[in-house]
Amino acid sequence: MSSSYEEIREAAELAAAPRRAPERPLLRVDLSTSSIAAEADRLWEALVPLCAERGVDLIRVGTLGLSWLQPVVELERPGAGAVVYGPVPPAEAAEFLDAALSADPAEAAARWLIGARTPEAGVPSLDAHPFWAPQERRLMRSMGVIDPESLDDAIAEGAYEALDRAIGMEPMAICDLVLAAGVGGRGGGGFPAGQKWKFLLGAPGPTKYLVCNADEGDPGAFVNRVLMESDPHLVIEGMAIAGKATGAEYGFIYIRDEYPLAIARMELALVQARERGLLGEDILGSDFSFDLEITRGAGSYVCGEETGLIASVEGLRGMPKIRPPFPAQKGVFAEPSNVNNTETYANVPLIVRRGADWYRQHGTESDPGTKMFSISGALVRPGILEVPFGMGMDELLLGCGGGPPEGREPKGIQPGGPLGGLLPASDLRLKLERPPFTERGVLLGSGGLILFDDRASAVDLTKYFSEFCEDESCGRCTTCHGGSQRLVEVLERILHGDGRAEDLERIGVIDQTLQNANCLHGQFTPYAVRGLVNYFRSELDVHIEQRRDPALAAPGLTRYLVTDPHSAELAGARPLCPTGAIVDRAAPPADHAAEEGERAEIEPAGLTIDDARCIRCDVCRELAPQAVRVVDRFLAPLEAV
Ligand SMILES: Cc1cc2nc3c(=O)[nH]c(=O)nc-3n(C[C@H](O)[C@H](O)[C@H](O)COP(=O)(O)O)c2cc1C
Repeated sequence: MSSSYEEIREAAELAAAPRRAPERPLLRVDLSTSSIAAEADRLWEALVPLCAERGVDLIRVGTLGLSWLQPVVELERPGAGAVVYGPVPPAEAAEFLDAALSADPAEAAARWLIGARTPEAGVPSLDAHPFWAPQERRLMRSMGVIDPESLDDAIAEGAYEALDRAIGMEPMAICDLVLAAGVGGRGGGGFPAGQKWKFLLGAPGPTKYLVCNADEGDPGAFVNRVLMESDPHLVIEGMAIAGKATGAEYGFIYIRDEYPLAIARMELALVQARERGLLGEDILGSDFSFDLEITRGAGSYVCGEETGLIASVEGLRGMPKIRPPFPAQKGVFAEPSNVNNTETYANVPLIVRRGADWYRQHGTESDPGTKMFSISGALVRPGILEVPFGMGMDELLLGCGGGPPEGREPKGIQPGGPLGGLLPASDLRLKLERPPFTERGVLLGSGGLILFDDRASAVDLTKYFSEFCEDESCGRCTTCHGGSQRLVEVLERILHGDGRAEDLERIGVIDQTLQNANCLHGQFTPYAVRGLVNYFRSELDVHIEQRRDPALAAPGLTRYLVTDPHSAELAGARPLCPTGAIVDRAAPPADHAAEEGERAEIEPAGLTIDDARCIRCDVCRELAPQAVRVVDRFLAPLEAV
């Protein structure tokens, strides 16, 4: 006989007690993709014997979101608080541990100290940290706290309580509740999830499918990855509730293969949930059955578009199809289906547990609730956080993210991925909800926000995003494939100093033509160039008319000029130049050559940069900033000295 939820919860609380209310010091190590990139796995290896020697328990957790401070760890001591530290390099593991375990960690471990997540005497609270203070962590509540590979930890924090409740509800009542909460699709469209579920509920059965879109292809977006790596059961529970609400008994979680840790943790979580009777036949002793499998995507951007994604789930080439029919009519294997973003599903257990009114306590009329944002680019504090919809973008990027490094000015924002468009820095005042973004002709998107500063060329950025769209076009419709190619050609030309007066008109024609593309990928491709024309027009004009990039960032319009040919740093950089572009300057012409006897006194000609070989990787300037300058390619003199 299967256990009731209460029995499962009681057992899980017992099993998780040493981690929830530790009787010995407990060290939590953030083991997520961003921390592992900063060697958290090596830190973990170093900590295993050190913790054993010192009587400290060690567990892995997901992320608190403080990406710029990775590797991040947290030490909780019995009866005292939980204090967060970072970065803790592997080489400093022993020194750090002793300092953090000392009587006065605020003093002894000051150089690693970030703040206390739960109060500890003498340690400043994380709540006062600018990155943390404005957050409303609902989806992220357990992230960085529980072991994402422990079902006990998740259940002890309330996982699957909402599923237990939903199983006792009528499907339509669940749809109504989700609709009343007003949760909109987090994949970018914002379509009310409850409404979409009603479409599927009303579709003829018996076979229906759910799909979780965890493709997350936007550069700069890592919300879904963090959800799956840090709290996988929240996503699974959301999908199981959606199954009950719509009559679907099976679902697919589509995750791009570039997310190996997310895949591994989701795979494990599925096995655990099945073993505990929370997935599979007759869940929690009821007559409700639901199961899930993971489909690994090969990293094609258009496979994030729901019809392309469905094709990919079916094992076909990921090419979007013309809608209608919509997935609720004809989806996976031609059966009625529902596609939602990972974060959309993850919100559902919270709504079922706490109710629609609670959910709406934060957010705005158009976008109730909270939203996870991954913030990156020219920021002092890049990371991932959760804030109420409606918060100012300036508060998020300049306040939490700390804005650009000292001495730099924000120049613009790239919201919503390569299809999202560009905004100028003056739009930092916009509220983070969909309508103001749509009004400005851009998309808020799925949560990735990239700030760029005065070092970036808006034209070059636009070319990057347009090229991305061209590269990722599935090729089925010529309008998109050929149109994006033409767009890139025009931008390339401008960026090489060959802009023409008629280019603006040409861009307009390409934009108009792309509106006839078969799917949103093609239709949204010109959003970036539209942002360029609308908000960075004077910069574009300078590129075309003066063959110059005011930011000195566009590779085709700039050149590297050696200002000190005899610099020792430049000589040191020479072997590191990937194309061998740092070369000897030509010797003085023969007729100026000194007499044989005076040769020893002639200064060697020194070094220069061969422009034909230079790929503008910037290595020389990084290593020899005093000896190399970036200058206008067409305007600056060929030699500085
Ligand atoms: C080219 C393209 C790529 C997309 N990529 C994603 C993606 O990676 N993740 C996602 O959730 N939605 C993506 N979408 C939106 C999906 O088509 C779909 O609207 C979404 O998964 C629906 O879920 P939601 O209602 O919960 O937002 C993409 C759309 C387009 C046009």
